[in-house]
Amino acid sequence: ASLENLSTMATPAVARYLVSARDAREARNALEWASEQGLPVQLVGGGSNLIFCDDFPGLVLHMALKGRHWASVEGDSATLVLAAGENWHQAVLYAAAAGYGGLENLALIPGTAGAAPVQNIGAYGVELSDTFVGLTAWDRQAGQEVSLTAADCRFGYRDSLFKQEADRYLILEIRLALSRSRPYVLGYGQLSQWFDDKEPSSPMAVAEAVMALRRRKLPDPSQLPNTGSFFKNPVVPRAQWQALQEQWPEMVAYPMDDGVKLAAGWLIEQCGWKGYRNRTVGVHHRQALVLVNHSSGTGADVLALARRIRDDVQDSYGVTLEVEPGVVPADCGLAPRD
Ligand code: EPU
Repeated sequence: ASLENLSTMATPAVARYLVSARDAREARNALEWASEQGLPVQLVGGGSNLIFCDDFPGLVLHMALKGRHWASVEGDSATLVLAAGENWHQAVLYAAAAGYGGLENLALIPGTAGAAPVQNIGAYGVELSDTFVGLTAWDRQAGQEVSLTAADCRFGYRDSLFKQEADRYLILEIRLALSRSRPYVLGYGQLSQWFDDKEPSSPMAVAEAVMALRRRKLPDPSQLPNTGSFFKNPVVPRAQWQALQEQWPEMVAYPMDDGVKLAAGWLIEQCGWKGYRNRTVGVHHRQALVLVNHSSGTGADVLALARRIRDDVQDSYGVTLEVEPGVVPADCGLAPRD
């Protein structure tokens, strides 16, 4: 089965077997069958954070479980329950249309609800973990369904238990605590300019602003295949930041609890890569952190470009960029330097 349509980078690859699961039972049956056959398994949601680099010799399990509902509605608060295969952006609009706040900054992030906790999706000063209360998953190691709290999920910047213990959990359903009286998060530069100190009229107004901002900079994967930011913004120790700043006073960075987070897009742009393209792949002309597939680029083409960029940033700034999306099969990932 072709995998090209199962990743928004649209690189060519084939899976030996492909199953699209519409409920938890179908997903479990497929896993059981794969383990009887001794086949490796790769989970896929919306495919907006995965690069296929080679054919997959096992089962690709597409999580297509649908369903959303409100639980424990009380006063201004309610819990939004989303099945893993629900489209993330549609869920954001659904919550905002009902007047519930908490997700509006995360509008237009591609992908599914079940994939959202894996990289702890984030944008415009908000992360999934800010509203996340828990999830139900199939624990493949223990062979049972488990309920995990936010603390269990060990969320960090673009990080979670599901990256740390890859392949253990099959996320079935997530639960988010939303509220009609939650303060808006408007601190992110462009968003604060948008509202110019005026209080937004509704969560939908914020969602619309975020959508407009994203459309200005980020390519729509259905028009120009990409998987969003290709690298994480690197966090460096404060001492290293001070040295960097002395040499490059205009370097863009944000203070964090554990160091200073550098804008990887800035580093890549300074190295001259913004808007670069070769025959197949390139660097987006408005956002240097986004690699794009212009014309039948393969996963190897994408990774070859990523490697040149990483090495260049390393040589110029002594900072190592880490690839953010998952690479399948895993052994195709960016090789360390020669
Ligand atoms: N910048 C440049 N040149 C560029 C891009 C960025 O100089 O080509 C500098 C600018 O100074 C800009 C700053 O970097 O002000 C930050 O850029 P931007 O606001 O576009 O955000 P980002 O740090 O590049 C992160 C997330 C995005 C998220 C935006 C908005 C990561 C890896 N990426 O990007 O998430 O949408 O902030 O909150 O943290 C994703 O993860 O796929 C993703 C798109």
